[in-house]
Amino acid sequence: MQLGVCYYPEQWPQAWWVDDAARMASMGIRYVRIAEFAWSRIEPEPGRFDWAWLDLAVDTLHAAGLKVVMCTPTATPPKWLVDADPEMLAVDANGQTRGFGSRRHYCFSSTTYRAQSARISEAVAVRYGQHPGVAAWQTDNEYGCHLTVLSYSAAARQAFRLWLQQKYGTVAALNSAWGTVFWSQEYRSFDEVDPPVATVTEANPAHRLDYRRFASSEVVAFNRIQTDILRAHSPGRDVTHNFMGFFTEFDHHDVSADLDVATWDSYPLGFTQDFFLSAEEKRRYARTGHPDIPSFHHDLYRGMCQGANQGRWWVMEQQPGPVNWAQWNPAPLDGMVRLWTWQAFAHGAEVVSYFRWRQAPYAQEQMHAGLNRPDRSLDQGGIEAAQVAHELLALGLDSDEAIATARTNLKAAAQVALVLDYPSLWMAQIQPQGADFNPMEISFRAYSALRQLGLDVDVVSSRADLSGYALVVLPAHLREDAGLAERLEASGAQVVFGPRAGSKNQSLAFAEGLPPGAFAALAGLQVQRVASLPPGLEDTVHWPDGSTTANSHWREDVQAMGAGTVAHFDDGRAAVLRHGRTWYSAGWPDAAGWKQLFTLAATAAGLPTQALPTDVRTSRLGDWLFAQNFSSSTVEFSPSNHAQCLLGARALAPQGLAIWKLSPSD
Ligand code: GAL
Repeated sequence: MQLGVCYYPEQWPQAWWVDDAARMASMGIRYVRIAEFAWSRIEPEPGRFDWAWLDLAVDTLHAAGLKVVMCTPTATPPKWLVDADPEMLAVDANGQTRGFGSRRHYCFSSTTYRAQSARISEAVAVRYGQHPGVAAWQTDNEYGCHLTVLSYSAAARQAFRLWLQQKYGTVAALNSAWGTVFWSQEYRSFDEVDPPVATVTEANPAHRLDYRRFASSEVVAFNRIQTDILRAHSPGRDVTHNFMGFFTEFDHHDVSADLDVATWDSYPLGFTQDFFLSAEEKRRYARTGHPDIPSFHHDLYRGMCQGANQGRWWVMEQQPGPVNWAQWNPAPLDGMVRLWTWQAFAHGAEVVSYFRWRQAPYAQEQMHAGLNRPDRSLDQGGIEAAQVAHELLALGLDSDEAIATARTNLKAAAQVALVLDYPSLWMAQIQPQGADFNPMEISFRAYSALRQLGLDVDVVSSRADLSGYALVVLPAHLREDAGLAERLEASGAQVVFGPRAGSKNQSLAFAEGLPPGAFAALAGLQVQRVASLPPGLEDTVHWPDGSTTANSHWREDVQAMGAGTVAHFDDGRAAVLRHGRTWYSAGWPDAAGWKQLFTLAATAAGLPTQALPTDVRTSRLGDWLFAQNFSSSTVEFSPSNHAQCLLGARALAPQGLAIWKLSPSD
């Protein structure tokens, strides 16, 4: 558990660097990420490299005992490169070229840009690959930021055709898979197929899904070129990429297969303002962020790396104060930067790195806070980061030895898995059927309900090993998957399906028979009709204990084929069904509904649930339990009479944290 920071030496006078590095080190910061946007300074003119400043920056940080996370600078190709090769730019859905002047102005399919990105990555890797101060590498910066994965350039069109040819072999196979007989869309050759854009109305959904798959595979290929180069020139260093929260434009599991550590960028207040929360939630969590937004991603990125690196993840960018990019940018309540940092450690982060060391007084992000103000004085985020560093030391957590021990002892051991499948998300995005059927939202809502019941959750890919889980939840698994059905059966876990499960085949057509397709035998039912519900149109769900909850967004008419009704709608039709170990929600439950359903399934799984105080969350790591208070009142909380309090107290103040060591009997 160590702290890091993102630093831009090129944006500050050299005379400040030694002092910056000394202050970082004395604050307890260990890692410093640099250079991800520095291409124009590294290579001011084609082929002319200026390493002197970067050498000095790396040496300065190293001399202060800091570990450098060096980046490839490919998110910001310089002007001379764009002018020399305008074809490298991405093209948006309106046919508009996405030009120079901000960042991420490249098309993943551009072969010339791939060559340039390999060239600059290799130059940086050769220069710093063996530097003793360089501990890790980051590729590019936030693939997909500013919606930059889907491009409709000539290069993308050409690459898509080749991709289709490899996938289908014959155009007849493509026509059949896509159902192009509908509206006379049949193709005679792969060369006739364009990207699914600029159509009069909706393009063929299978065509769109393949374009999403293709675009995702382009990101994987682009990233792999860099990871191969970095491994060749800097063996033994971790290679990572920083993913962004709630981004679904490409498959993060696929990119992570080429990484040693998955990292993500956590901006709880920005996400709370900009994503799908209700107006009431945006107001309520404006200064704390929704408690489950950071942890949803922590638990997702913990599941990214596999094999020897299984479970390795960091926060690469942690919000330090107000950001500049959300619709509204409130300031975190005092204590939140500390609480977010500890929340990440509580979910198993190796490193939490703040964005950024100092607020820039100019350019696009001048309104974005840093740990320090532009005048070099410490800001509130810096004060809280220093406090965490102090607490880590006091708990004996900030040393290489402690980290090694922590890695073995303090493993998150969730008994609940929540499956997040990127192709299923794409399916629901392409064919939402109701304007607000957001598959990420329903996944998040299910996750949040599990967390409110005190359950620790692994968010996993549909390829994950499911053995060992007591409860597996699939809130939005539209994609039929017979292999997954078998693994769910074999796992012995209680399984909870959300609506639309298994309803589509790989080509976004109806799965064999009626939904839930390959999951039908498990679920013991057939979905006969689906309906989306406009805002305000809700059904009441009646539970066995006499309580009622609300159903919105979506509902299904289900024919039981072996399953029994657990809860029903007003008209008597089944809202939740159970078939042996499998539970099925025929609608979109509210928070209370999800909690009812998960309480029943967890009880059947032998998992104890708790009624945690509102906006208090707990996370278990080995025999440590972290209690976090996101509410605005002091809350009494202790896990048991035998647990020993290592940090904080039974009285959890607002924005407060307590760490408990559980006894073997807990
Ligand atoms: C991230 C990005 C950073 C910076 C930050 C501001 O998405 O990776 O470069 O722009 O947002 O919050």
